[in-house]
Amino acid sequence: MLEKFKQYLEQNFPKTQSFHPFFNEALKWMLQAGGKHFRAQLLLGIVNAKNPALFDKALDAALALEFIHTYSLIHDDLPAMDNASLRRGRQTLHKKYDETTAILVGDALNTQAFLLLSKLDLKESIRLKLIETLAFNAGINGMIIGQAIDCYFEDKPLNLEQVEFLHIHKTARLIAASLKMGCEICELGEKECEQIYEIGLLIGLIFQIKDDIIDATLDTKDAGKPTHNDTHKNSFVKLLGLEGAKKAKNDKITLCEEKMRNLDSKLTNELGILINKYLKG
Ligand code: IPE
Ligand code: IPE
Ligand code: MG
Ligand code: MG
Ligand code: MG
Repeated sequence: MLEKFKQYLEQNFPKTQSFHPFFNEALKWMLQAGGKHFRAQLLLGIVNAKNPALFDKALDAALALEFIHTYSLIHDDLPAMDNASLRRGRQTLHKKYDETTAILVGDALNTQAFLLLSKLDLKESIRLKLIETLAFNAGINGMIIGQAIDCYFEDKPLNLEQVEFLHIHKTARLIAASLKMGCEICELGEKECEQIYEIGLLIGLIFQIKDDIIDATLDTKDAGKPTHNDTHKNSFVKLLGLEGAKKAKNDKITLCEEKMRNLDSKLTNELGILINKYLKG
């Protein structure tokens, strides 16, 4: 599944026709750098478990998630936000080129994602649902307000409830949307979609706790991005301490595995593989 997605991504970098000297190179710079493709794999995992015949048609939806996520990272690294010079083991776009290019490549990946969804080889009603789910969870009801709070409240400590609100919006909603989009492609019932979305929020929160632990424990080389950078942030490690964050992560993994027992076994299996690979340890 991952190999197929990587190949598909390599063959489908966005590009435009113009006389700009390097814009197409800039468009693919961060996509080419790799990353875990966690969100794309969540969507494809659902499709694999529920209706593998739709796998190929779902690839562009997975690509849309990778574009949105990569845009969010490009903007997250800008001097106005986290001011990072390394991402996925390479120079960030504003370092490699300039801030103008980084802002515009982010904008391009954001809009391109919705273009891809609008053109999917699926029923119009499904395409519309996918667009709505992504727009809701990546936008002001999700990632955007999360990022806004993350940046505004630097050096302003939040309580546990507020920290969870921040990370549910910043990270978990897009991750939950990835699962929900898989459900929508497979036309699962409303109730099952909601159940899987709720599990996705938990997976997303665990993913962010792990990301905060990575910041506190790994060096730049192993993380592929600057670490020990969250000291001004309302990270889980800042709030709970390293051991507290590790415990919170483990407790939430246990809860997540309990909730997953109510899903069908193929799905539990697909999600279990991703949870073991990306959330544990
Ligand atoms: C990093 O995301 C930002 C977070 C929301 C935690 P990833 O850890 O998924 O980054 P890549 O795509 O693997 O580089
Ligand atoms: C970024 O979170 C989340 C986004 C929505 C982009 P972080 O700022 O913690 O991500 P890293 O640590 O830079 O990858
Ligand atoms: Mg950030
Ligand atoms: Mg950051
Ligand atoms: Mg981080």
